[in-house]
Parts: sequence; C-alpha cells; structure tokens
Amino acid sequence: MEPEVLNPTSWYEGDISPEAFRKVGYRAIDMIADYFKSLPDAPVFPLRSSSEIEELFREPLPEEGQEPDAILDDWNARVLPNVTHLGSPRYFGYVQGSGSMMGILAEALAASINQNVGAWKPAPAATEIERRTISWLAELIGFEPVCGGLFLSGGTMANFTALLTALRNTSSYDPNADGLGGHAQGSRFRLYMSDHEGHVSIKRCADLLNLGRDAIRLVPSLEDFTMDVQALADMVDDDRHRGDVPFCVIGQAGSVNVGAIDPLDAIGAVCRERGLWFHVDGASGAVGAMLPEKRHLYRGMEQADSITLDPHKWLYISFECGCLLVRDGEKLRRTFSMTAPYLRGTVPTKYTGLDYLEHGPQMSRGFHALKVWMTMKHYGVDGYRKLLRQNIRCAQRLHELAGHSSDFEVLHSPTLFIYSFRYAPTAYQREAENNPASRTEIEERLDLLNQRIADEIQASGVAFVMTSSVRGRTVLRFSICSHRTTLADIERVFDHLQRVARELDDWNDGPHPARSASLHR
Ligand SMILES: Cc1ncc(COP(=O)(O)O)c(C=O)c1O
Repeated sequence: MEPEVLNPTSWYEGDISPEAFRKVGYRAIDMIADYFKSLPDAPVFPLRSSSEIEELFREPLPEEGQEPDAILDDWNARVLPNVTHLGSPRYFGYVQGSGSMMGILAEALAASINQNVGAWKPAPAATEIERRTISWLAELIGFEPVCGGLFLSGGTMANFTALLTALRNTSSYDPNADGLGGHAQGSRFRLYMSDHEGHVSIKRCADLLNLGRDAIRLVPSLEDFTMDVQALADMVDDDRHRGDVPFCVIGQAGSVNVGAIDPLDAIGAVCRERGLWFHVDGASGAVGAMLPEKRHLYRGMEQADSITLDPHKWLYISFECGCLLVRDGEKLRRTFSMTAPYLRGTVPTKYTGLDYLEHGPQMSRGFHALKVWMTMKHYGVDGYRKLLRQNIRCAQRLHELAGHSSDFEVLHSPTLFIYSFRYAPTAYQREAENNPASRTEIEERLDLLNQRIADEIQASGVAFVMTSSVRGRTVLRFSICSHRTTLADIERVFDHLQRVARELDDWNDGPHPARSASLHR
C-alpha cells in the first residue's frame, strides 16, 4: 500500500524552502569563511560602550517578518562590528576556548535535528554519542573510562553537580528527601579548597546549595600556589572535632591565576582516610593530562570521585560546553533520579535507554556532545596534543620575555597555558626594598599602572589582556588557550605591551626613558 502523503509540498509554512535554504545557507557559510579570513587582523575588542551598543540594537518588536538575506545583512552591519573576537589568536581573557571550526558545523547539524538529550527516546543517537564522548574524555585524561558523567553548561554547573552528588553520597541521612533540614542543627557542612587559587565558582555552588559561603574552608597554599595538604588534614580534623561535617575537598588541576596543579595524590589520600568526597576542579587544566610529559603532575587525579573538565576552555570547543566525570555513575543517578508518569511509559520496553535527566540538574538538554565528538574526531588525540603543546610553548615564551626584561616582575613559571606577571621595573622594586616607607605607595602605583596597561592593550585592539590579583598585587594575566596563537603573536603582543607600559609610566619625573610614539590604533 502506498503511504499516505500527508504534506504535498516538501516544506512547511514557517520553514524556508529547501532551495532558498541552500542559497542562504551557502551565503552564511561564505560569511563564516570570510570572518575567519579577517580574524587575524581584526581589532580584538570593539571599543564601544555598553550604551552605544545598546542603542544600536534599540528597535521595535518586529511585527512583519523579514527575508533571511536581510537578517544576514544585519549580522554584517551591526553584530559583527560589535563582537569581541574570542577566536582571535591574540585574545587572552578569562579562560575561553577559541572555538573549533568543526564545532561550527556540528552546532548547525545539531540544530538541524533539534534533539532533546534529556531522555533517550527523543535523542537515541545523541545520547549514545554523549556517552561515548564522556568515555573518550575520561580515557584522554587517564580517568576510569567506564564512569558516569555528562555535559553541562560550564565549569560552574559541573562543580555544582559534583558538590550536590558529594553531599548526597556522603551524608548519613537521606538528603534527597529531607534536604539540609535533615541534618542536626548546630553543625555545618564543610568543603575545602586552596586559599589563593580555589575558584570563585565554588562560592556560587555553596550559594546554590544553600550551604552558605562560609561553608568553604580556605586551606593555606604553599609558595608554588598549591594546597598545603598537612594544613588540609589538620583543618578537616579540627572541624570534625568541633562537630562540623566535612564532606568534600576540591583540588585544582590548572588554577585560574597561575595554572597550578594541587598535589592530587596527597589530597586523595586525605579524602580516602577521612571518608570525604574528592573533587578535582580541572575546568581549565584537566585536559593537560593528555600530554605524557605533563601526566606526572596530575598523579592522583585518577583517584578522584569526580572531575570538572570544560571542553569550552582548553579543548577549543565553542560555548557552552562544560563536563563532569563521576567515577561511579550510579552515585550521580542516585542524586538526580526522578520519575514522573509523563517521562517514561509505565512498562519497560526494549526502546528505553540512558535518560540524562536522571543524571544531572537539567531536564531538557541540547546536543552539546556533537561538537566535542566531531572535533575530537577531526583533531585526533595527536592533533590535540600538538595544539596544547603550542599553547604551553607560548606561555613559556612569554615567561622568557618577561624574565629577560628589567621592566617586568616574574611571579611564577608557567605550568600550563595561564601566565601572570606584572609591570614592575627593577628600579622601582629596588627603591621599595631600600626605602620601606615608600613600599606601599610604590606597590599601589604599580597596581594602578598594571590595570591601565591592560585597559590600554584592550583599547589598542592589538590583543585582549586582563588583570587579576596574585598575592594581593595586580598582575597582567594571559590565558593562552587559543589554538590559533603562535609564538609570533606572543612576541608581537609582548613588544606592544612593553611599549604601552613605558608610555603610561610617567611616574619618575616624566616618562620612562624608553617611551615611544603613539600607541593607539
Ligand atoms: C578552575 C575553574 N573552575 C571553574 C570555572 C567556571 O567555569 P564556567 O565559567 O564555565 O562556569 C572556571 C572558569 O574559568 C575555572 O577556571
């Protein structure tokens, strides 16, 4: 019997016809290719204020529809000139992946099938691709490949998911049903991370879990910014002695200011001895474990109960894409499992599978795994290793340049791709040492100067650099996690940075002796 033709045309009202779609789609691909051609020379930051950009987009709710070509014209006219180019080889802000080109195609393909990866039935292949990609990521970093885990919006949500799983699986009562109210009054849940390099997202998690920010105990760190594990053990024991409830320790694998990796092996031992959940925040740096020459730094990460790892950082995947790996996937399921009559049929059939809504906080979820899966297939582990090594080489080059210049103070050597240093000419440092009374004034002026340098670099369009604080001093922070950054970019930016710094340094009776001509674009 001939199947009944339900729709005599080949497209629907509300769709673009296949021929028109092909035409406008080719145009969109041309626009993307042109964008990447222009990217190396584009000023990295648009240098327009929020109100200027807001005004540009001030327009009425569109009553009448527009042709797709007109909408793409608008992209060229108003959107593109006002973006910060995170894909630029000289974008060094925050920790933001440069966006793989295979990922762009994956995003378009994923949108075309519009899967909801909250449950298996509306996303059979997508679910299995996510499961496989999670396993690949675990294997890549030397974790148990038969583990639980899922993609989340980013590191914060991955940390949140880990901490809730930790709470639910270490408590002596039934927190699923009773929540925090089930816990005896007068004592507090406690979690631990290092004082300097623990990431602020953990504060957000403590808020979301309503533990209170003070539940976070900051463990002193050593000279190299890693956690003092003896201090950790002492703090946990003291807290427990006082009646508090320590439940989780967070070790850093690639910290936010200096890329430090905590002694994960020793932290794991403290956790095992005391029955605590061991979480590794490797949002930025866990993937560095794919490099055989760096693997020893991560010793002990394989013992973790959970690991946060963000593909949208050092795996160059476009936003958003965070990921959590959990050694025992059943613990994740125990934490998030939920049923309702409308989520599944009442009788199990052959056609059911992994429902990710039972393994994490979201119900509806996009097909984020596709861009990771496709990019991993495109680069291969070998390709990824080359790109990561290039980033590390760039950080090391910056360290050499800063170390060889008497204008800059070196604060650490780079472990991975994040590098912080500061403009602090040797003469000023000497002055501060010889004349302690002037130290505070000198330091404060240098702090201000470093901030002005970063602002000026952004304004110049040559690069995007931000500041942070290391041991209380303002530093220039470079996060070199673009697969497009070369040594030549680093040298060019350092040269520019040095000229900017000297230009702005009008402190000691006028400008720095090596002051140069105009720095603006
Ligand atoms: C170590 C670490 N953890 C967590 C986060 C938070 O990640 P996200 O911004 O993806 O939520 C970051 C962000 O830079 C990070 O560096």
